[in-house]
Amino acid sequence: MAGQLVGPFPKGKDPDDYDRLRRRVLWRMPAGIYLLGSAFGGRRNLMTHNLAMQVSVQPKLLAVSVRNDALSHELVDKGGAFSLCLLRREDRALARTFTKPAEEGPEPGMLGGVEVRDGATGVPVLCRSVAWLECEVRHRLPVGDHTLFVGEVVDCSAPDEEALLLRMEDTRLNYGG
Ligand SMILES: Cc1cc2nc3c(=O)[nH]c(=O)nc-3n(C[C@H](O)[C@H](O)[C@H](O)COP(=O)(O)O)c2cc1C
Repeated sequence: MAGQLVGPFPKGKDPDDYDRLRRRVLWRMPAGIYLLGSAFGGRRNLMTHNLAMQVSVQPKLLAVSVRNDALSHELVDKGGAFSLCLLRREDRALARTFTKPAEEGPEPGMLGGVEVRDGATGVPVLCRSVAWLECEVRHRLPVGDHTLFVGEVVDCSAPDEEALLLRMEDTRLNYGG
């Protein structure tokens, strides 16, 4: 949490300096940046997300870590599914747009001003994604201020496999640390 030093601290190191260094090192870990789609009870959301990785080959399992206080947490937990949309390099602005709950519209078929469609599990997927994966939640693991949702890939699509992907270093954003 902002402003709060998180231990443990190695002996002999200044907690403030150590906290800043640890943050910088954590931020330097190579990271992708995605939109995570979720839906439950008529509410849908897309959320800027980077704590995601494949965690099993057989079955095909993806883990996404979601803040406990996020709307997306409630929707993934209750809806039991999520999508992970890979973004185009030129779509940096989308990463900024989806750091707060997305409003429906302004037109039908749109969410937060972008065109979406419903995936097989009912979660929104970004139409202009490079590619997207859709997962059904198989495991939930509380991990501090986040929950790790592990989902099995049940569908995917790659509308533009040639497009360059947006990476964290293409933005001025970071998360975690
Ligand atoms: C670059 C970046 C990456 C983010 N990655 C995550 C993430 O992996 N997990 C997460 O819970 N929130 C992440 N967030 C925060 C969410 O985008 C969002 O601000 C917050 O969780 C509220 O989401 P909500 O719309 O579901 O309420 C990230 C934010 C930024 C700017």
